[in-house]
Amino acid sequence: MEKRFQSIRKQYVKGALSEILVDNNPLRQLEFWLNEAILAECIEPTAMVLSTVGSDMMPSSRVVLMKGLDLTGIVFYTNYESLKGKQLNENPQASLLFFWPDMERQVRVQGTVRKVTDQESDEYFESRPEASRISAIVSPQSSEIIDREWLIERSKSAFEMQMGSQPGNRPSNWGGYRLIPNYFEFWQGREDRLHDRIVYQYVDNYWRIFRLAP
Ligand SMILES: Cc1cc2nc3c(=O)[nH]c(=O)nc-3n(C[C@H](O)[C@H](O)[C@H](O)COP(=O)(O)O)c2cc1C
Repeated sequence: MEKRFQSIRKQYVKGALSEILVDNNPLRQLEFWLNEAILAECIEPTAMVLSTVGSDMMPSSRVVLMKGLDLTGIVFYTNYESLKGKQLNENPQASLLFFWPDMERQVRVQGTVRKVTDQESDEYFESRPEASRISAIVSPQSSEIIDREWLIERSKSAFEMQMGSQPGNRPSNWGGYRLIPNYFEFWQGREDRLHDRIVYQYVDNYWRIFRLAP
């Protein structure tokens, strides 16, 4: 076995996290860290790994972009008939993971997803550039396709038919999900692997905050 990867290591020294100083609401704490990641010009600061488990019990993970955050939850948009859409239909429990390497920070989130309202999906769909709207219309996300040409042809015809510019053209299989969280873990890398891990657990209408060993 090649040993070269074993020697890749760094000290984490950029910050600290205390159960006393964190916000008492984890969604506000997440917003605070997101703002810091944006200010620090982290690449794709809103990218998060979404993990889902369907009825076959096989976990599946992929990156999606966070498009909304408020005290009710975390919103992302996708194709409802994709693999993730099917899995979320079978089992609405999911996890999200943010990783900002430049900040030496990770946030884990668990909860239950619900589709956002049609109005919310329509508003976001309309705000996307036309080319992105067309792609959402023509791509049967996660289905096997014959080749790239097939997709390009579909996209060209959709442009010619001006499908992307017609109002109310959001496909019914495309829209948002809101993850309603019940668990968060904020991780801040620390020196000599003695990292800070602060957990929020929602029990009896209240966020219990505690620390985990690294
Ligand atoms: C940086 C990045 C951002 C992405 N954003 C989204 C997104 O917001 N929505 C989405 O459906 N897929 C997004 N994807 C693609 C997904 O990772 C994935 O390939 C796709 O959703 C199909 O996943 P599934 O087959 O598990 O359903 C993104 C990928 C990357 C690398």
